[in-house]
Amino acid sequence: MDVDRDPLWYKDAIVYETHVKAFADGNGDGVGDFTGLVGKLDYLEALGITCLWLLPFFPSPLRDDGYDVADYRGVHPAYGTLEDFRRLLAEAHRRGIAVLVELVLNHTSDRHPWFQRARRAPPGSPERDYYVWSADDRKYAGTRIIFTDTERSNWTWDEEAGAFYWHRFFSHQPDLNFDNPRVRAELLDVLRFWAGMGVDGFRLDAVPYLVEREGTSCENLPETHAVLRELRAALDREFPGRMLLAEANQWPWDVRPYFGDGDECHMAFHFPLMPRVFMALRLEDAAPIVDILRRTPAIPEACQWGLFLRNHDELTLEMVSEEERDYMVLAYARDPRARLNVGIRRRLAPLVDNARRRVELLNSLLFSMPGTPTVYYGDEIGMGDDVLRPDRDGVRTPMQWSGAPSAGFSAAPPEALYSAPITDPVYGCAAVNVEAQLRDPSSLLRWMQNLIRLRKQFRVFGRGSLEFVSGTNRRILAYVRRWGEDTVLCVANLSRHMQPSALDLQAFAGRVPVEMLGYTEFPRIERGPWPVSLGGYGFAWFELRAPAAARTG
Ligand code: NOJ
Repeated sequence: MDVDRDPLWYKDAIVYETHVKAFADGNGDGVGDFTGLVGKLDYLEALGITCLWLLPFFPSPLRDDGYDVADYRGVHPAYGTLEDFRRLLAEAHRRGIAVLVELVLNHTSDRHPWFQRARRAPPGSPERDYYVWSADDRKYAGTRIIFTDTERSNWTWDEEAGAFYWHRFFSHQPDLNFDNPRVRAELLDVLRFWAGMGVDGFRLDAVPYLVEREGTSCENLPETHAVLRELRAALDREFPGRMLLAEANQWPWDVRPYFGDGDECHMAFHFPLMPRVFMALRLEDAAPIVDILRRTPAIPEACQWGLFLRNHDELTLEMVSEEERDYMVLAYARDPRARLNVGIRRRLAPLVDNARRRVELLNSLLFSMPGTPTVYYGDEIGMGDDVLRPDRDGVRTPMQWSGAPSAGFSAAPPEALYSAPITDPVYGCAAVNVEAQLRDPSSLLRWMQNLIRLRKQFRVFGRGSLEFVSGTNRRILAYVRRWGEDTVLCVANLSRHMQPSALDLQAFAGRVPVEMLGYTEFPRIERGPWPVSLGGYGFAWFELRAPAAARTG
């Protein structure tokens, strides 16, 4: 990843998301750390990823796995020191891997010194004003609750302050007051601190909720966008080439403004697309994917969607209709223990019953739809989860490096790990681990390496336009990606059975499709419909090569 020379580097990136604590334990205390992570960079380089996204590693009481920040400028002692982080950064950069960290803007931990100071300071003082207070809990009544399983209100009474404080997430995560210029200046300094160290980008956590206004939903407000423009302007001025990625779990038309006129975030996750990919698979119908992408507005030239199948949270069902939600729950979370808040707490492989062809099909979509793909650690080997663990812990278990009792994650015994490795017979580390899959040429891991290598050879995937191709069979999703001379046709069979389709590729008549994994030439596209057949859950990417005459002429 040439972050220094190419300001649009994030468009070609392959992102890998992990938690330092969950990846590799270098000092044998049972918790993953930066030393362990540095030791695994060769693995990540061989996998082909070009950007490492680290979940929060800052000092924190860890009541929300680090999203409850108690010090924005440090490293949690369990994970190492700032020096260790610097080493990680240098070692990642040496391998061409960019590093993305979290900027948790919206809230802090209630242990943060700013909050401790605020609750003691007199009402109306600048210190008190770092957070959002009220004498009653009726303000901003139009605001929804996000963590519906744990929270009853967005207000919590603070005895010491003698007032209620506002929080969109857990009650131990008070929201910062972005109307206070001092707060904005503080967070800007935090950004400078990490950018100055060489961090390449920031995931802006929970970004729609920065500012509150009476009579609104307190989400996506113009004042929130103004804060982002301020951050972006400073970043561009002081650290050109660094990237901002918005976590805004919203409809595409509400996310669109987070790109601004190219003067807010460079990237934003496409939340509504993700459940629809799973829905299309279960319905064996391309319609949900086509529909949401058709309803996705165009974004400025330098901007990019962030794509993902799974991440560290529950598979959120906030951006679907009620009927669609019911369907998703029936299809993917019959076991009520798999449900959490408005979502499903499962990893990729268990969601699709560990069916290799379905995992491959979903990845083929992740890696060929318009945007930058993110792989959640462990999904490249098909790791499982544990719905019996609290909150989202069941999808945050130790990375499975080998079949050893502690999964090769740590020298400590399994009972001493921050979380026990998965041990069930299907997904446990004895059955699913990196060591075995590296030795097995037909493993999922080797397949993923291959797919990533292929994707990186064609910049059209990260940069090109998207056009859907109409066909005679709705079980086959077909689209063309185009960038300059490069034209790629992607076809995916969402059905478990073999399917034919006749695609309307008239616009490409004369071109020769070359299947990209095997370099096999397919019949030239003529004026009439182009017939294609795919096995159950099959997919193919074809380079549409211009006829030789057109090339030389
Ligand atoms: C979004 C994060 O992805 C999630 O893990 C966290 O709990 C909330 N933001 C609150 O910070």
